Amino acid sequence: MTPNERRVALAQIAAEVSTCTACRLHEGRTRAVPGEGDSDTEVVFVGEGPGFNEDREGRPFIGRAGGLLERMLGSIGWQREDVFIANVVKCRPPDNRDPEQDEIDACAPFLRRQLEVLDPAVVVTLGRFSMAAFRPGARIGAVHGTTAPVDPASGAADALTFSMYHPAYALRSPAVERESYEDMAKVPVVLLRSRERRAVAGAAAPMITMTTTPAAAALAAPAPVAAPVIASMSAADQAADDASQLTLF
Ligand code: URA
Repeated sequence: MTPNERRVALAQIAAEVSTCTACRLHEGRTRAVPGEGDSDTEVVFVGEGPGFNEDREGRPFIGRAGGLLERMLGSIGWQREDVFIANVVKCRPPDNRDPEQDEIDACAPFLRRQLEVLDPAVVVTLGRFSMAAFRPGARIGAVHGTTAPVDPASGAADALTFSMYHPAYALRSPAVERESYEDMAKVPVVLLRSRERRAVAGAAAPMITMTTTPAAAALAAPAPVAAPVIASMSAADQAADDASQLTLF
């Protein structure tokens, strides 16, 4: 897909979201919140669902939780415009209650299509509802700050997911907020790892269709992944080192 095709496809999904009546959440919405960001990004953040401010403006993460998300992104040198930010449900649940399973299921095709278009390398989940969409059965207290391969059925064909606490939860506890900054510091490292995986998968793909001789097979062997020279560094040093090498563009 060209960048323009991606923009058009995302706009088409957003238009469908804005008039969707697939679940009861549309009854109480002021505006649906399809998601926004860089259509050429490698990193998608997925939250739970719009709150009061998001419902009024039609934009994700613009309230207090969004403020913390932006500060955490800033701590790794990124801005919200560098990534794409979406939610599991696109309309505000009444009184900010948790989304119900049938609402999540009704909205899931929109997120799947967004991920198909964006083809991200990393899907960062914010909170347990978003985590559950990519790591069913996991417990956020156990897996936050860790990564797992994404099931391509989610729409993201070749991605790693990285689990974080929801920023609204982090705002309630200085300890969780501190842990969330530590988790965010790992995101650039996860992006590098995912790029490596995707490069290997991309290099391996022609082997399946083109290999006919042993010599060709040798030529098509996956390129060696960069030596893990940072393996002996502390996680924090490693993250800082990776972040300093890393631009999103
Ligand atoms: N919380 C979310 O999960 N998503 C938003 O867009 C805003 C707050």
